[in-house]
Amino acid sequence: MSLLTISGLGVEFGPRAAPLSAVRDVSLTVDPGEVIGLVGESGSGKSLTSRAIMRMVPSPGRISAGEIYFDGRDVMAMSSKELRSFRAHDVGMIFQDPFSSLNPVFKVGAQITETLRANLGLGRAEARSTAIDMLERVGIPRPEQHFSSYPHELSGGMRQRVMIALATASRPRFLLADEPTTALDVTTQKQILTLLATMRRDFDMAMLLVSHDFGVIAQMCDRVAVMYGGQIVESGPVEAIYRTPQHPYTRALLASVPELDAVDQRSRPTPLEGYPPEIGPVRDECVFVERCPSARPDCRSGRMSLEQVGTRHHSACPFEGRPAEGAQSPVAKERVV
Ligand SMILES: Nc1ncnc2c1ncn2[C@@H]1O[C@H](COP(=O)(O)OP(=O)(O)OP(=O)(O)O)[C@@H](O)[C@H]1O
Ligand SMILES: [Mg+2]
Repeated sequence: MSLLTISGLGVEFGPRAAPLSAVRDVSLTVDPGEVIGLVGESGSGKSLTSRAIMRMVPSPGRISAGEIYFDGRDVMAMSSKELRSFRAHDVGMIFQDPFSSLNPVFKVGAQITETLRANLGLGRAEARSTAIDMLERVGIPRPEQHFSSYPHELSGGMRQRVMIALATASRPRFLLADEPTTALDVTTQKQILTLLATMRRDFDMAMLLVSHDFGVIAQMCDRVAVMYGGQIVESGPVEAIYRTPQHPYTRALLASVPELDAVDQRSRPTPLEGYPPEIGPVRDECVFVERCPSARPDCRSGRMSLEQVGTRHHSACPFEGRPAEGAQSPVAKERVV
């Protein structure tokens, strides 16, 4: 059974009578221990989707549709008490900017012991020794000493390590990591990704890793969902997405990544022209039509939904795409004929 199942998720802003849709029709499953990547340009709805899982969509945004089940429990139906316990024990979350999530006025040790005492009910002494163990586990040198450091006394990478310690304090089975390495330099980024991979293995933790960097996703994830304009336009095993991308947006995204240009090794990275759509009323057409290099009149005739194009591989473009190996979709069959 899946650990997390999201179906038909919608997030809106604006008046209820004339809503501005930011996320729509998002369905996603995460198996226990699995790492799922959420990739897409800025503004595509990655953060809203991941925050929705914890029912932490920032106001005035609201979840307007959909179901979220975690380990068989209905997250949308949880009382505030259940929700507190869910956030404290079952899910951890780390954000892009460790400055915004660590409190600058408290020492890092105090922040971790506070979390351990509140979430796990540990006593003062036990919380302190657990916190020091955790700082050591996430690779903070001289943890006893850094226990008494303030966040600003640590480097960006160290602060992110502290965030990871905090988020995994209760050994959650699921970690939401929203752009955890975006603010870091390349070397530190690698170290943090390695740490996340280690924590995943040691705690047998499932993860939703949000990134706009396909390189990071390819390194870390089992499966990936590609978001565009608030929708998932393609999802599937990383290998399949990388080798046989089906949606024109996925192909454009891959083609814009220099070191990962596997679509055609000889071609230069080509940035995608134009701008992503802004949030607005739902339109009855393909979400990517304005920028799609192979758009045709049919693309304006209705919204596109995900169709299966291979094993656990789905694409929202019924017209484009090369047949994936073993693909069962009518589109693929059509193209072979
Ligand atoms: N408080 C808000 N009010 C209005 N619109 C919002 C608000 N928060 C987010 N949005 C809009 O919702 C859309 C999705 O936002 P989201 O933060 O999920 O994007 P993202 O994919 O995480 O982008 P990034 O890569 O920049 O973090 C964006 O177009 C954004 O402008
Ligand atoms: Mg974001």
